[in-house]
Amino acid sequence: MPRPIISPSVLASDFGQLTIECKRMIKGGAEWLHMDVMDGHFVPNITIGAPVLSCVAKSVPGIFMDCHMMVEHPEKWVDDIAAAGGSLYCFHIEATSDPLSLIKFIRDKNMKVGVAISPDTPSTAITDEIGLAADMLLVMTVYPGRGGQKFLDRCVPKVAELRARFPNKDIEVDGGVGPKTVQSCAEAGTNVIVAGTAIFHAGNPEEVITALKNAVIT
Ligand code: DX5
Ligand code: ZN
Repeated sequence: MPRPIISPSVLASDFGQLTIECKRMIKGGAEWLHMDVMDGHFVPNITIGAPVLSCVAKSVPGIFMDCHMMVEHPEKWVDDIAAAGGSLYCFHIEATSDPLSLIKFIRDKNMKVGVAISPDTPSTAITDEIGLAADMLLVMTVYPGRGGQKFLDRCVPKVAELRARFPNKDIEVDGGVGPKTVQSCAEAGTNVIVAGTAIFHAGNPEEVITALKNAVIT
């Protein structure tokens, strides 16, 4: 299985201190930072976009920005996110009719490619061709749109299904994940853990990051 990666979701951070928060997470052991981009259409909320990511990239050298694009027409933002310094561009399979062309387009902009599935989307929506072309597959364990929701156990079997089909790919879980819920995800074969509330609202984020990482290793 690929190496464990912790990707704190900045949605739960203090946006007024965003770059300081990102540095704090990296110091605490996080490999990636999960940037939740919402457009008010694919999901009701609006969060951050390329201008903010660009500032973060400039202030936090070497940061790996794991961009979770909860947007309609995901092809529309590829250029801007690439120019802003996005490292991985993860689009929702529900938002596109031509995922293979989109994967190629993202890769041509020198970003890694992620493909996300929402709770009601089966793992089979990620065909063998799509899964092999992507770098990362994201199984949402809450409905996309906001942080702090309850983890949906029923999404976990999709992690196992994808891990069986794609042994070498990064498989990420996102939504309601913390030390109490990570175990089932880890057993199912996830290696990339997104956690917002559980990390940012903890007294000691570093401890939580370590606990999540250890859950994936063991
Ligand atoms: C939900 C977002 C998640 C969320 C995670 O739409 O994609 O990344 O912010 O936050 P927690 O861990 O608080 O559920
Ligand atoms: Zn997310």
